[in-house]
Amino acid sequence: MPAWKSFVGLLALAGGAVSCAHHGDTEVVPEHEREELLKKWDQEWSFTGIASFAHLKPVKCLIEPSENYDIAVIGAPFDTAVSYRPGARFGPRAIRAASARQMSGTSFNTRAGINPYKSWAKITDCGDIPITPFDNGLAERQMYEAFLELGSRKTVNAAPKGGDSIGTGHPKLVTLGGDHSVALPALRALHQIYQKPITVLHFDAHLDTWNPVRYSAYWQSEQTQFNHGSFFHKASREGLICNSTSAHAGLRTRLTGVDAGDYTNPGPEQGFIRIHADDIDELGPMGVVETIIQRTGLDPEQPVYLSVDIDVLDPSTAPGTGTPEPGGWTTREFIRILRGLEKLNLVGADIVEVSPAYDNKGETTALAAAQVAFEIITSMVKSGVKEDLGGWYGHLYDDATAGQTEAESDVTRDEL
Ligand SMILES: *[C@@H]1O[C@H](CO)[C@@H](O)[C@H](O)[C@H]1NC(C)=O
Repeated sequence: MPAWKSFVGLLALAGGAVSCAHHGDTEVVPEHEREELLKKWDQEWSFTGIASFAHLKPVKCLIEPSENYDIAVIGAPFDTAVSYRPGARFGPRAIRAASARQMSGTSFNTRAGINPYKSWAKITDCGDIPITPFDNGLAERQMYEAFLELGSRKTVNAAPKGGDSIGTGHPKLVTLGGDHSVALPALRALHQIYQKPITVLHFDAHLDTWNPVRYSAYWQSEQTQFNHGSFFHKASREGLICNSTSAHAGLRTRLTGVDAGDYTNPGPEQGFIRIHADDIDELGPMGVVETIIQRTGLDPEQPVYLSVDIDVLDPSTAPGTGTPEPGGWTTREFIRILRGLEKLNLVGADIVEVSPAYDNKGETTALAAAQVAFEIITSMVKSGVKEDLGGWYGHLYDDATAGQTEAESDVTRDEL
């Protein structure tokens, strides 16, 4: 049969199907039936549902221009700029799956004194940026355009604290990576939105400020500069990073050559102070916090980007990553540090380099990443709340209901 004939045949079939299915398509469910259905079936267990981050409503925000939010969680599944193990393109999926026990009704963060999913902020899982794996230059442009678009939307709810910081009025972006190079288009977008250099707080075993010639001085192209070890070099040279307020923390990388020249060469490396993983032994987690805040300050007019390479954690805690380095922090230490930083004026954050192929069956790395995202989202919400909620790091609880204003009416299950 010639192709056109089968095409006509298909059309006829399709027509029949449409007229058959027409009846009943638009029937409206009466209100009382709807109510009954919701009572009966509108329940989720931590292990049910299509895996969005923390069971948040998933929306493909990039194709829904009228979708607004206060905080967007966005996946950046991209890993073609890594120098060692690939696989972080599967990071967003793994982190979402590992976030399953973060249900809005059961997510009161005792360390912070607030449930970020039941407070003032509308938080949406905006899905993934459909990033090409075939052309890194194009991928970079896709990510930049996506971050710029998502970060330029209107916010929904005014933070109770009011408009006293530069971040107010713009939604905050939490990116699930992806390899670490996704931070470059994110910083370009934030620089465009805030029109000033951004303070970068960078948790990582590695510097990521390396001049791309470190990888190969001879074989250079524009694209070799966009990689997961040089993006802060590029970002600094582009003037996106504030050189006097930024910090690396958790460092323990080997350096190039025969001395600590990577630290002392003039260049963007100097735009960051360096806190090493081992410093925690002398300083303790709260000493690390103090050192960071001394550097970053708490200026309400200065936007801060928090970039978390999951390899800041020890490989015993987070093996599923691209460039593991033994001797890192534990999850507990890192959570405590993050909680100590809740007053930073975070406008964006990323959790990157989760590579589930190297993770274990207990999803240790993805669980850590989901918890880090939870702590960051908690801080973003908490910073918009007027009253002092305390939490373990403010003062000890003497009132179990501190900070909880809404009734826990839709708590369906204990976290057992
Ligand atoms: C930070 O320092 C680099 C050079 O090390 C420079 O190119 C860049 O413009 C500086 N950034 C700002 C915001 O001044």
